[in-house]
Amino acid sequence: MISLSDISRTYGVGQAATRALDGITLHVPAGSFVTVVGTSGSGKTTLLNIVGGLDTGYEGKVVVDGQDIKTMDDRTLSQFRNQTVGFVFQHFNLLQHLSAVQNVALPAFFSDEPIPDAEHRAIEALKRVGLKNKLDSLPGQLSGGQKQRVAIARALLLNPKIILCDEPTGNLDTTTGGQIISLFESLNRDDNLTVLVVTHEEFLFKNSTHTVHLEDGREIDSAQESEG
Ligand SMILES: Nc1ncnc2c1ncn2[C@@H]1O[C@H](COP(=O)(O)OP(=O)(O)O)[C@@H](O)[C@H]1O
Ligand SMILES: [Mg+2]
Repeated sequence: MISLSDISRTYGVGQAATRALDGITLHVPAGSFVTVVGTSGSGKTTLLNIVGGLDTGYEGKVVVDGQDIKTMDDRTLSQFRNQTVGFVFQHFNLLQHLSAVQNVALPAFFSDEPIPDAEHRAIEALKRVGLKNKLDSLPGQLSGGQKQRVAIARALLLNPKIILCDEPTGNLDTTTGGQIISLFESLNRDDNLTVLVVTHEEFLFKNSTHTVHLEDGREIDSAQESEG
């Protein structure tokens, strides 16, 4: 489903160059729940942006849902970002002056194809994440956990096969973070959604199919990690 072969990513040139990823190979089977763990600066966001087609300045090969990202033309790539994958971020990235339904419906407005039932879809997505009583609430009227649920509903709007999450619990207390992870687990289990999460909070993700440890842009095994 997601296949990364020998991925490297360098930002900047010459003396100022930073090698954010250095030879990462990773396979995420369809229907799995994979967690990538590492400290700040280890390359997690870089990795996720590459998988999601937000960053194409990498070396190596990335195949997602049967498509090699580097062979996509601009239109295919934007469709891929909008429909094949859904993104969830640490800071929720909601528009403050839009209601929950309006925030969730946003991807429909960026779609190449018209999505005539966007509002109905948005309502269904909000029900799916447990927010049927908050349809008209503004982000400022919601708790952190509720805001993240709105963001998850938005990611689900166009029925992606894959959900990509960058520190989705980073702005939440442990209890609320656990509830958000339970939601990802149920989407993975019940809807066969492939979930790829990057996080520095490994302890919250006990039920992952597979955990990858990143350090300075390289994969390390867990035994190495515990040595420091
Ligand atoms: N746009 C950028 N320009 C230059 N360096 C960057 C950029 N984005 C990330 N980096 C560097 O790449 C490394 C990995 O960053 P990042 O992927 O954001 O790590 P993480 O998400 O694990 O904190 C860090 O050293 C960071 O400073
Ligand atoms: Mg990051």
